[in-house]
Amino acid sequence: MTPDFEHPPERRGTDSVKWDLKPHTPDGRSILPMWVADMDFPIPDVVQSALRERISHPVFGYSYLSAAHQEAFVAWQRRRNSWEIDREWLVYAPGVMPAVRAAIRTFTEPGDEVIMQPPVYNPFFCAIRDSGRVVVENPLVAVNHSYQMDLEHLEAQISDRTRMLILCSPHNPVGRVWTPDELIALAELCGRHNLTIVCDEIHGDLIREGHSFTPLASISPEISSRTITCAAPTKTFNIAGLASSFAIVEDPRKREALAATIERLGLDLPNTLSLTAATAAYSNGAEWLDALLEYLNATYDWFEREFATRFPRLGLCSIQGTYLAWIDFRELMESVGADDTAVQQALLDVGGLWLSEGSWFGTAGQGFQRMNLACPRDVIRDGLDRLEIALGALS
Ligand SMILES: Cc1ncc(COP(=O)(O)O)c(C=O)c1O
Repeated sequence: MTPDFEHPPERRGTDSVKWDLKPHTPDGRSILPMWVADMDFPIPDVVQSALRERISHPVFGYSYLSAAHQEAFVAWQRRRNSWEIDREWLVYAPGVMPAVRAAIRTFTEPGDEVIMQPPVYNPFFCAIRDSGRVVVENPLVAVNHSYQMDLEHLEAQISDRTRMLILCSPHNPVGRVWTPDELIALAELCGRHNLTIVCDEIHGDLIREGHSFTPLASISPEISSRTITCAAPTKTFNIAGLASSFAIVEDPRKREALAATIERLGLDLPNTLSLTAATAAYSNGAEWLDALLEYLNATYDWFEREFATRFPRLGLCSIQGTYLAWIDFRELMESVGADDTAVQQALLDVGGLWLSEGSWFGTAGQGFQRMNLACPRDVIRDGLDRLEIALGALS
């Protein structure tokens, strides 16, 4: 049966971060949330059935990572990305951010420098700073509403305290799917300076038609040996509330060290229902994902046309992956003399539209807003109407 992406269930009242945290404007109108990166679509039937079946057994004692669970992920990578990994390489973590945090603690010392390329997912900044490491920023460079890495600037930033680079691939929030050439050039640079690469591939299954995703570590054994890949079923299958993830670490010494940190932090025990959901999703969720990607592809095509017609004073970055639209307000802000706070206030209080504020992704994100497109097109249309109302208050 084709999944119905047009009529998702009501999410209000489910303790949803997206829908329940801020339901109303100050004067009591409903707020449409298009910010946090989860989808409004129901999960695949096969995942829901697997969960139902597991719940029908009335004991929920400790669970371990079964071979079936690991094999489901290994087979997924083989089928979707032609990436041959060994299940021995997998290290469980209860989420990508716990794995990233553990990797920072394992492969760097307090005071060491970690490079990131903002605008980028904000918790990376916190993970580095919270552990007493130093953030080094190599901002992405925007060219014609698409972003590139500035490798010359990156290399110039490296000092004898630089130990690690965190790559977001595909990149949240700018929606880039890095090409093999871009990945190889970056990895060669990291190789020259002996940097460990933490590669966050949580959005790696959400690729727009016409683009192709390459897991960084699949490119060569040399790259794989310096890379900690973080992958998860949570974005792909909309099961972020059933948190789970795998770090893929080919180098045995690095793997043991990372696993030891995860254990020391008390993060090694998997949640029973998360395992059930992830195993079912990786084993039987491909058809649902293909249907989802088809729906999202049509959304992107429609959204880009609609956006260009209705908002000529805003810029829209090309969407290659993720499901997140990165919108440039800078020209408009300059022409009306508005700052980020004024834009956010107009969006929320006047338009009743909650987007992710660009500055959350670092100073490189100032003047931007991120819009989550993983919802029915009618809801996006409502979002665009609200955006228009908000802009009316700014001009
Ligand atoms: C790039 C990126 N990494 C990690 C996460 C969070 O992952 P987890 O919930 O598994 O910690 C997100 C969630 O939006 C994300 O966009």
